[in-house]
Amino acid sequence: MTKWYMQIVPFALLMIPGSLFALEPQSSYELLSEELKQMQDDDFANPGMATVDRGRELFQKPGFNGKSCASCHGDDGEKLDPERIAAYPIYDEEHGPVTLQSRINQCYAYHQEEFPLLYDADELIALETFVRHRARGEKMNVDVSGPMREHYEAGKEIFHTRIGQRDMACVHCHETYAGQRLRGQILNQAQINGFPIYRVTDGNIMSLHEKFIGCYGTLRAMPYEPGSQEYIDLEVYMSARGNGLPIETPGVRQ
Ligand code: HEC
Ligand code: HEC
Repeated sequence: MTKWYMQIVPFALLMIPGSLFALEPQSSYELLSEELKQMQDDDFANPGMATVDRGRELFQKPGFNGKSCASCHGDDGEKLDPERIAAYPIYDEEHGPVTLQSRINQCYAYHQEEFPLLYDADELIALETFVRHRARGEKMNVDVSGPMREHYEAGKEIFHTRIGQRDMACVHCHETYAGQRLRGQILNQAQINGFPIYRVTDGNIMSLHEKFIGCYGTLRAMPYEPGSQEYIDLEVYMSARGNGLPIETPGVRQ
């Protein structure tokens, strides 16, 4: 006969929030099928490389004042420091937390005298994919000490708060149940070192904030806008949570 505690103990273990364990960051790459791994690894097969190329074209295109990104950062962006790219989001006194995409938009508006683009505009996603790809292999290294700390904590809070009609939090699928199967898919840790990613099913590149919106949809919760403070804070938290993982942009996903 089964004793009462044999039923209670496994259940109680499930209730321990994942956050009590130190999370060993694991790239979603590790959970891909062999076929998708090969596709991501081979620049000629990785469909995300088309977005890198489009980003490079935009990088070399003159803005309103005749200057291109390349005028200041080198034809192929070789003057950009990969370590610096891997440190984004960074904190800046004037703007608070600045994501890599916001920094690119700042350069676009300020140094090329263009009207700033909307967050997640196609051009910005392409430029971000190009710039991040330049730092491929560099380990994510986001500093969340000092004034950045409060944004890290705000993002962490969002990650752990139940939302939507499903009344679930990000942490449930991406830590508590990470590694388990949900409708034929293995749940990953939602690490973001491969973003922007190429989605084979949609045949499209997807930005990080678009993915956030997707997961809010899965939870039947009201999403925030791309570039909202909530998503920026989430990006700060989730980047630092993955510190040490190599940048893989453009990642390939089902
Ligand atoms: C007129 C020169 C100029 C142009 C044009 C320009 N930038 Fe910049 N960019 C800068 C300067 C200056 C910085 C700040 C470097 C620093 O803080 O040390 C910077 C910073 C950056 C950074 C962050 C790197 C870091 O060190 O923090 C990225 C990424 C970037 N630019 C991308 C772009 C892109 C993409 C474009 C085109 C849309 C562009 N820049 C256009 C001058 C320029
Ligand atoms: C019901 C389970 C579930 C919850 C809760 C959930 N997600 Fe996801 N998430 C998934 C699944 C399944 C995938 C992978 C499949 C896909 O990308 O469509 C995924 C993928 C992701 C990825 C992409 C990781 C990669 O490497 O491709 C990110 C980022 C992400 N989720 C963020 C979030 C955030 C932020 C929240 C909370 C707002 C959240 N998720 C809540 C199920 C969930």
